Amino acid sequence: MEISSFIVMDILERAKELEAQGIDVVHMEVGEPDFPTPQKVIEAGRQALAQKATFYTQSVGIPELKEAISSYYKESYGVEVSPERIVLTPGSSPALMAALRIALESGGICGLPDPGYPCYKNMVNFLGGQWKPINVFAAQGFKVVPEQIEGIGSLVLNSPSNPTGAVYSHQELESLVRTAEAKGVTIISDEIYHGITYTQERVPSVLEFTDEALVINGFSKFFLMTGWRLGWMVVPQKMVRLMQCIAQNLFICPPAVAQKAALASFNPEVMEELRQKVSIYRKRRDYIIEALKEMEIPVDPVPQGAFYIYADISKYTKDSFSFCKRALEEAHIGITPGVDFGSNNTNLYIRFSYANTLEQLKEGMNRLKDWLNTLS
Ligand SMILES: Cc1ncc(COP(=O)(O)O)c(C=O)c1O
Repeated sequence: MEISSFIVMDILERAKELEAQGIDVVHMEVGEPDFPTPQKVIEAGRQALAQKATFYTQSVGIPELKEAISSYYKESYGVEVSPERIVLTPGSSPALMAALRIALESGGICGLPDPGYPCYKNMVNFLGGQWKPINVFAAQGFKVVPEQIEGIGSLVLNSPSNPTGAVYSHQELESLVRTAEAKGVTIISDEIYHGITYTQERVPSVLEFTDEALVINGFSKFFLMTGWRLGWMVVPQKMVRLMQCIAQNLFICPPAVAQKAALASFNPEVMEELRQKVSIYRKRRDYIIEALKEMEIPVDPVPQGAFYIYADISKYTKDSFSFCKRALEEAHIGITPGVDFGSNNTNLYIRFSYANTLEQLKEGMNRLKDWLNTLS
């Protein structure tokens, strides 16, 4: 079975070893919000525990939360998604795995954006399926275009994207959906970074254009609940029963306490608090882009979502992996090499995560600048 390491996790583990030796490391590799879960959500979790929410729940999740997510789709995107089609999962990763399995079942190769989230290919490998990279270049905004939907049975889209922060517009997403429909290609839309966006226009969900896609989302990123392990999936009506059987057998149910806690996320005050975090991310993004520009490290196009910057490091190296390893050992900064995300020019790119305080990011950029000066 071919499962490559998740390089960012290797970097993180090495960073932790250095920290254990008393070395201070600036983390710009971790793909996890630095903010804790909102207090009201924690309180709801505490209350759930006090009320002994320690048992299994429905395999597809508690009805109240499915209804809350359904209302969220209506309010945020203007789409009707019946709660029945929503399946809660222990994080979005198991939902992705189930979606990939379902998509592979309908036949063909799975198309994966390159650069893209590395776990997609490793999941397909784990499932014994076939995948092929769909190369996305800076000149096309790191986005898949309809002409690339060729020779595949399914396609993973990820908007906002990890690692590039690319966001598809309404028009772009709709034309991909229409082409996929015409060619009988199943779309898996990983929308886990929804909510963390910086565009003028509202960012569309694929659900605005089709009821036939498999849509992945969850509470890890915008909702600041990584460690609670709670995600969800929206499936076409015809797959509701199949997905229920998959959930029963593979997951039993999502965590009971996390589900009760997550209900509080939709409280308007909590939503406001979450939106404020997005303005903080935006300031950090703008800061890093400026700092990198001074080092002649271009970020083009400017990422419009998630908390990542995918930067062209070709002025300094043609080997992003060695570059990041050295940056960690010599400058004590954690950055992820582009090669973690595929093989399409990825040797020339590195990914910064700005899920860290501005103070830390400033320290990180200073260290990077000083270290680069020693190289030239
Ligand atoms: C693009 C993408 N999809 C899915 C996930 C999985 O998130 P989780 O399993 O925490 O919901 C991640 C996590 O980093 C991600 O970056």
